[in-house]
Amino acid sequence: MVEKIKLPNRPVGPFPTVLAGVEVDGRPNYVTIGACGVVSLDAVLYISLKSTHFSTQGVKENGYFSVNIPSAEMVDKTDFCGVVSGRDTDKSKLFTPFYNEVGKAPMIKECPMNYLCKVINSIEMFGFEMFFGEIVAVYVNEQCLSEGKLDPLKVDPMLMMGSSYYNLGQVVGGLFKDGVDFKNKLAQEG
Ligand SMILES: Cc1cc2nc3c(=O)[nH]c(=O)nc-3n(C[C@H](O)[C@H](O)[C@H](O)COP(=O)(O)O)c2cc1C
Repeated sequence: MVEKIKLPNRPVGPFPTVLAGVEVDGRPNYVTIGACGVVSLDAVLYISLKSTHFSTQGVKENGYFSVNIPSAEMVDKTDFCGVVSGRDTDKSKLFTPFYNEVGKAPMIKECPMNYLCKVINSIEMFGFEMFFGEIVAVYVNEQCLSEGKLDPLKVDPMLMMGSSYYNLGQVVGGLFKDGVDFKNKLAQEG
């Protein structure tokens, strides 16, 4: 019998660990974010940024942000971007920025995956701004492909949960596969 313990009503995760890249006052700035995700089946990502963050100003100025997926070996620099503000500390030299023809938001070369997003909507909520960004470009390091396909274990992304960062570990199932197998098994059992 599983006993359920009640926890305080606080979001403890799991959340993806991403670094948003933003151009602020003409230089790149990077901010650690857990509040990032998909919205629908459309090519749109959201990020939720505290209104007073230095980065928020940059997203509003340029109408673009990047979402960069740091690998687990980048945990120290990733956490650093979440404990210092670009308002007081220049974070622009921390990574090598790259831009596509759109410009507007720096992407991080050291991160194995990068999304460039164009702001199409935003909502203010609880002192945060939720920016919805249409994905206008996605990049992945060539070394993170296996037989030409994206290999998440090679990307080695991190989740945040509680007070720690974790990496993926291992494959435990297949999307749209394990559920279908289970459905077929149920059908066979009658
Ligand atoms: C693990 C972690 C997760 C965070 N998630 C968010 C988030 O989802 N949204 C947000 O606005 N700030 C988040 N922060 C806080 C910002 O990263 C932090 O305040 C940062 O210094 C702001 O930088 P800036 O002023 O240069 O934009 C997070 C920080 C950490 C360490």
